[in-house]
Amino acid sequence: MNKMKNIIVLVSGGGTNLQALIDAQERGEIQNGKITCVISSNPEAYALKRAEMHQIKTKILSRKEFPNNFSYTQALLKVLQEEKADLIVLAGFMIILDKILIQAYENQIINVHPSLIPAFCGDGFYGLHVHEKALEKGVKLTGATVHFVNEICDGGAIILQKAVEVKQGDTPEKLQKRVMEQAEWKILPEAVSLFCADRLVIQNQHVEIKAL
Ligand code: GAR
Repeated sequence: MNKMKNIIVLVSGGGTNLQALIDAQERGEIQNGKITCVISSNPEAYALKRAEMHQIKTKILSRKEFPNNFSYTQALLKVLQEEKADLIVLAGFMIILDKILIQAYENQIINVHPSLIPAFCGDGFYGLHVHEKALEKGVKLTGATVHFVNEICDGGAIILQKAVEVKQGDTPEKLQKRVMEQAEWKILPEAVSLFCADRLVIQNQHVEIKAL
């Protein structure tokens, strides 16, 4: 039996991806791991309420209290060390982390992004903007990606992806909802479960999933 991993979820907003993780945990789908703390960069984030409703410890580390991303990341690193993080999940976390944290937790940070990387990703592509850009381009398929975080924004090794159809008459909001329901809320818990089961192997920036 592997050691139970401490999963720390970083959030900034509504927290529907956090909810998907909590639901998966409660269904017993994340063996060998437990969400032990939720940290929000935004004191108003509804994600905090979701955690509290499930008796999960929360911490607020408000971005506004820090002059820049570097000092913010330094403070975050300290909290993650106190919390003995084994896995850090960025679930709608809207701050680009400094490399000091990425280096300290190499291959232990995963992010969910609402497109099929390498399309519609990188600096400035976050939240609803990603879906606006996909609609502007007129793609017929989009989706979501879960990937390890490295020093390149949305550039780390891809763990899982799932495609979602774009429909005529879609608005960014409608598309966002479909991508969340059909892709993000499925592949994020699945990737977390695979990580906790030590089934993700990274070699040359490629992820292989070990068979059971
Ligand atoms: C999600 O669609 C997530 O993929 C996206 O923000 C939304 C957060 O929703 N993240 C990014 O764009 C990161 N680049 P949630 O707070 O309801 O999980």
